[in-house]
Amino acid sequence: MDAIEITGGRPLRGEVAVSGSKNATLPQIAATLLASGESRLRGVPDLADVRTLGRLLHHMGAKVERATDGSLMIDASGVDRPEAPYELVKTMRASVLVLGPLLARFGKARVSLPGGCAIGARPIDQHLKGLQALGAKIELAHGYVEAQAERLRGATVLFDLPTVTGTENLMMAGALAEGRTTLENCAREPEVTALAEALNAMGARVLGAGSSVITIEGVTSLRPMDITAIPDRIEAGTLLAAAMITAGDVLVRGARAADFDAALAKMREAGARVTAERDGLRIVGPERPEAVDFITAPFPGFPTDLQAQLMACLSVARGASRVVETVFENRFMHVQELSRMGADIAIDGHTAVVRGVEKLSAAPVMATDLRASASLVLAGLRAEGTTLVQRVYHLDRGYESLEKKLSALGATVRRVKG
Ligand code: EPU
Repeated sequence: MDAIEITGGRPLRGEVAVSGSKNATLPQIAATLLASGESRLRGVPDLADVRTLGRLLHHMGAKVERATDGSLMIDASGVDRPEAPYELVKTMRASVLVLGPLLARFGKARVSLPGGCAIGARPIDQHLKGLQALGAKIELAHGYVEAQAERLRGATVLFDLPTVTGTENLMMAGALAEGRTTLENCAREPEVTALAEALNAMGARVLGAGSSVITIEGVTSLRPMDITAIPDRIEAGTLLAAAMITAGDVLVRGARAADFDAALAKMREAGARVTAERDGLRIVGPERPEAVDFITAPFPGFPTDLQAQLMACLSVARGASRVVETVFENRFMHVQELSRMGADIAIDGHTAVVRGVEKLSAAPVMATDLRASASLVLAGLRAEGTTLVQRVYHLDRGYESLEKKLSALGATVRRVKG
């Protein structure tokens, strides 16, 4: 298993470009199942999660390949096996995104239940409740969701809580349903809006994405899409946090402030100077951040996917910060590892109190999930000495060559093959 070795202490400087968004691309890949013909997805990042979903579509009978310009080409004409096996779903929960499109186009789907996850229970009851409202018959047997419907019928679905992939699954199902589907209490994340745009490019009639009510007028068929991935706001936020924790000065090209205003506000409150410049955001980090309190929440609140990274920054702040995680129940796994590097963090339920220390000290640490890994890399950039972050396959699921991007900004970081 590969590891990442970081020798801390160098302020990051220069320019770096953000890759295409993982969490916007995954549902768009699933959406290609809604039409026969070849779709072209431009700017898709080369990530383990993208390859996993590609393998899943291939397993179903789709043709999936990378064009010479890097576009992901998917032809779902030959799909004849509408099922997602456990072996693929267990490595990536987002595989559940194929449920809506398979059911809508083929009238049946067999998708493994995702099972446990490091950051929380993450049930899919809202996805299933929504599909049932559209007329699907759903049974759970042998660890699989078995779903059937003659043709889905539009209906009103009120989500108990805003769920990103749940909203996306129902948008895709509603696109080919008969009549109007109204989704209420929807997730408003930019990734949901990007999916609505992709569906509309396929000929769907989706209105209201980005607000909490989305309506979809069902159509009888869709055409393949030709779209470009939006920039990855979580990668952008991670790079900004990397500049911040090293008191650096970095222009993150492609970063769009409106995608994560809440995170930028907290970085500014902690003393960073963040300005919109040319085609991105520039950050100048403070010598030492000021303590700030923050609470994760669905968009437009502070994104849970940036909680661990900002916490790493606050571990060296002046004063004590209070961090409340409200989206997932077990998303403080980085805390133990940060503590091994000298951070002073106490957890009480969903709240972490981070007492800033003057210095972090390098240590061997273990990545536990995607964003936790990123926070350990960030801590390593600030720490005295050489940190080894093990189990970076977590990082590779969602960051395209993070170590290369950081090293181009002046960090002493390298991948150790294992
Ligand atoms: N939830 C339910 N029932 C459901 C669905 C969700 O109770 O049927 C709960 C979840 O357990 C959680 C909350 O609702 O407590 C919100 O979860 P959501 O469904 O919004 O999360 P998700 O769609 O599974 C996506 C991202 C995550 C990101 C969350 C929150 C993708 C592929 N994944 O997950 O990304 O953390 O939204 O913003 O879009 C990551 O990239 O590291 C990552 C985990």
